[in-house]
Amino acid sequence: MPTLPPKTTRAPSPPWTSLDVRADFPILYCGERPVVYLDNAATSQKPDAVIAVTTRYYKSMNANIHRGVYRLSVEATDAYESARTRTAAFIGARNPREVVFTRGCTEAINLVAMTWGLQNLKPGSRIVLTQMEHHSNIVPWQMVAARTGAKIEVTPVTADGELDIAAFERLVGQGAALVAVTHISNVLGTINPIAELTQIAHRHGALMLVDGAQSVAHMPVDVAALDCDFFTFSGHKMCGPTGIGALWARGELLDAMPPYQGGGDMISTVSFEGSTWNVVPHKFEAGTPDIAGAIGLGAAIDYLTRLNMSRVAEVEANLLSYAEKVLRTIPGLRIVGQARHKASVISFLLDGAHPHDIGTILDQEHIAIRTGHHCCQPLMDFYHIPATARASLAFYNTPEDIDALATGLRRVIEVFR
Ligand code: ALA
Repeated sequence: MPTLPPKTTRAPSPPWTSLDVRADFPILYCGERPVVYLDNAATSQKPDAVIAVTTRYYKSMNANIHRGVYRLSVEATDAYESARTRTAAFIGARNPREVVFTRGCTEAINLVAMTWGLQNLKPGSRIVLTQMEHHSNIVPWQMVAARTGAKIEVTPVTADGELDIAAFERLVGQGAALVAVTHISNVLGTINPIAELTQIAHRHGALMLVDGAQSVAHMPVDVAALDCDFFTFSGHKMCGPTGIGALWARGELLDAMPPYQGGGDMISTVSFEGSTWNVVPHKFEAGTPDIAGAIGLGAAIDYLTRLNMSRVAEVEANLLSYAEKVLRTIPGLRIVGQARHKASVISFLLDGAHPHDIGTILDQEHIAIRTGHHCCQPLMDFYHIPATARASLAFYNTPEDIDALATGLRRVIEVFR
């Protein structure tokens, strides 16, 4: 029978908990009982500033963009393009035209696969992925490989959840055309050394795509410093609305890529004999885009910029180390993912309790975690496990949230003993 840990675990005192922002997030304090929200890798909560800007767009600015000469349309266009400019600045892009708005990170990866990929990959071309990729950075490449005859190679991970860099270099050195790697693993929390991986990719003539879904909201990102070629991310994981995200790519790559979808706004001229394309980024934004989403994303970026991403990263690193310390006191709990450079994601297993049961019992205590394969079935196969329970933290979490998780896990142990 496991020995239960002490009921109270003392959190370190400020200044490391000094991002006192919970009042900005209505969902964290509204309702019968505040939710202990620990599923930030799935989606983040939204501050009032984002909710208000999105509502204001529909209340007082709603019009289609790039089309009208009247005031509302001009205002909506300016707000949409201003969001693009702030998005570019947030990730260190040298030019806003290199930012294409998409439905999210998944669509951004699909866009690259179906445009750059179909144009450049041939039978025998190699695409190097890693064992820790999310399905959204695997399946689009499988689809494009099936159509082009390209071959997918997979970089192994170590038992601790780090990439095997020597194996990566060997695979890339065998003539890779493209490398696609997650910046931060949504399961393991591993922060991959993207600048180093990009250097290896470029040394061997491959392009580098970085899946930034889990990084943009948790650390400063500078695509110029990473020196990658494509960077993709979602708005909803960074305090923005759902349904909006972005692809950043080098301007010369975007210029050379064919359009993704056809329709309004992506064209320069149309006749039944043929059509010509608009300039980037509009070439990739067919139809009416998610205008409110883009404006909301701009507000989220303003919010995160005010907080300061270095500070966000620092606070989350402290929360992570506190959480790992507390969880190690839970009998029978094993953390999956022990990389040296880790973001605030903790996947774990608990002896005798299936992850889904852990999640269900924690939900009764108003604690939200994610359980399952986290859209990373190949990684689960590597560890020979069907699923994990996962707590993923954001800057608005507190040591008290982590204490609540520990108390909830003790309750799970009681139920199963
Ligand atoms: N990719 C998201 C997650 O890890 C949905 O939960």
